Amino acid sequence: MKFFLDTADITEIREANATGLLDGVTTNPSLIKKAGREFFEVISEIAAEVDGPVSAETVAHDHETMLLEGLKCAEIAKNIAVKVPLTMEGLKTCKALRARGIMVNVTLCFSANQALLAAKAGASFISPFVGRHDDVGFDGMELIEDIRLIYDNYGFDTEILVASVRHPTHILESARIGADVATMPWSAMQKLFNHPLTTNGLAGFDKDWAATGFSIL
Ligand code: G3P
Repeated sequence: MKFFLDTADITEIREANATGLLDGVTTNPSLIKKAGREFFEVISEIAAEVDGPVSAETVAHDHETMLLEGLKCAEIAKNIAVKVPLTMEGLKTCKALRARGIMVNVTLCFSANQALLAAKAGASFISPFVGRHDDVGFDGMELIEDIRLIYDNYGFDTEILVASVRHPTHILESARIGADVATMPWSAMQKLFNHPLTTNGLAGFDKDWAATGFSIL
């Protein structure tokens, strides 16, 4: 499973990239606002830092304007995935961008039927929001299972990009189901490294090694 970071914070992206485990980045208008930096400046910087796909989200609601925005975003770098909303206008734009060979991430997906439409529109990625689904009393991970089943039934190559990830269990479940990508906050990715038995085990080895008086280097 690929790991994307869901942030527009270049410091976090650099830290995650230094692990060698980062496969891409997703942003959205709220994350751009949080970063407090000019849109094109920050997206260009992220796209230069990370080798994998970097999602840049359009903001228009009509197909014509959204397409112009998408084309402009795609000019930033070769690894830009244009993000469009899961609306009729968004899917028209998805189809038009894909016809030009531009990667598209279809966002704000909350049902398996929506995901089916996105795959038919040729989306490179579909972004179901599991955390926001959980927030309103549904099981976000059931949505991922349904999408996996439907995509496998028809051999769609649209990648399932689990979004709105809030905690390590979302990431574990995504991997169990066979999602292609999980996009997560840096805080959630960092938690994956930790286990109290690893910390305690290391402390024990440190103590015993110190008592031997040996040195490796
Ligand atoms: O980028 C889309 C998504 O990951 C948003 O997450 O936490 O705002 O629901 P969240």
